[in-house]
Amino acid sequence: MSKIARIGIVGTGIFGQMHMKAFTQLQNEGKAELVAVADLIEDRRQKAAKEFSVKAYADYKEMIDKEKLDAITVVTPDAFHADIVTTGLEMGCHVLSEKPLATTMEDCNKIVSVAEKHPDKILMVDFHKRYDAYHLELERIIREGEIGKVQYGYAYMEDRIEVSRDWFKNWPAGSSPFWFIGVHFVDLIYWVIKSKGDKVFATGRREKLRSLGLDFWDNITAQIVFKNGATFTVDAAWTLPDGFEAIVNQGLRFIGTEGIIEIDSQDRGAGACLKGKSQQSFNLGFYSEKRTPDGRMLYGGYGIQSIMEFVYHMNFVMNGGDIRKLDGLYANAYDGLEVSKICVGVHKSAETGGQVIDLSSL
Ligand SMILES: NC(=O)c1ccc[n+]([C@@H]2O[C@H](COP(=O)([O-])OP(=O)(O)OC[C@H]3O[C@@H](n4cnc5c(N)ncnc54)[C@H](O)[C@@H]3O)[C@@H](O)[C@H]2O)c1
Repeated sequence: MSKIARIGIVGTGIFGQMHMKAFTQLQNEGKAELVAVADLIEDRRQKAAKEFSVKAYADYKEMIDKEKLDAITVVTPDAFHADIVTTGLEMGCHVLSEKPLATTMEDCNKIVSVAEKHPDKILMVDFHKRYDAYHLELERIIREGEIGKVQYGYAYMEDRIEVSRDWFKNWPAGSSPFWFIGVHFVDLIYWVIKSKGDKVFATGRREKLRSLGLDFWDNITAQIVFKNGATFTVDAAWTLPDGFEAIVNQGLRFIGTEGIIEIDSQDRGAGACLKGKSQQSFNLGFYSEKRTPDGRMLYGGYGIQSIMEFVYHMNFVMNGGDIRKLDGLYANAYDGLEVSKICVGVHKSAETGGQVIDLSSL
């Protein structure tokens, strides 16, 4: 019988729910065992434990040790991934870290150095944009040269203001619209054009959220020059009005010497105006639910798929597969570092009012 991973989740907040759903489904399919969750907040961990019938811990190290886990997933706020990721690896676990890998170069370098000491363990960063069917096709088209050499492009990702105003007001430190959502498209561009960042220039505003007493950037616009010469502009913002038709607005364009690709990732052609509400649109590509005849839920969409891929890779390794065969199939520590480096440069530039940052200096 093949081995399946015993998994624990660190962080049972908003996005921890997605991890719990993905692993519960894999458990139903006999492909993973969700054993426990850890959270510093008692109510949250107890609620999650009850809902998903797992054990709850305040201390994730105790969870790894007592439950003899094969893997953990790190779903804590952006600035608090590094210690948990490195401790997880050092305690013998495969690790899935939520994006971004970390928000400082110091943390990223520390993670890379620990990951290098544990080459038999998977460290994957959850950059789910890589699993969107539209982006898989984008990557294929560009890899096969169908728009020629990519010269420039644009991506935008903007959240409705409730994300910054209501979801993250309690985050202690270390996030911004660029860290929270811009990072997704930075990774997507890096993955599609297969080139590291060279230099960046960024500006932003802090007025709307400050007027609400929140010390966050409203928006950041970055221009990123990659080592292969391609230049991309990325907008990230946290201030779309409450009446906007979806929680996220997003899209991209890639322009090459022989062609152009444009994707509206928000408007996927589904709209509704429900009783007492304004017009809404749905990105069912990200998350979907379906009930089975025996009453279980099946979860789908690229938000779930990327978490599941971690388990498929881990099961391959745990059953004797050569981990090197997985190279390039998921975002690893080096990818996480390259993407965070661009974002660190972007924030440094925005903080200095638009200084050009040479990324080799970071
Ligand atoms: N992939 C995506 O689409 C996506 C979407 C949303 C959030 N995220 C990422 O997921 C992460 C979590 O975001 P969220 O919205 O769930 O945040 P959240 O604040 O809702 O939840 C984070 C939880 O982590 C817990 N926590 C913090 N430090 C801990 C520790 N040392 N041990 C145990 N628990 C600890 C907190 O108590 C909290 O319950 C962030 O990195 C975020 O960027 C990813």
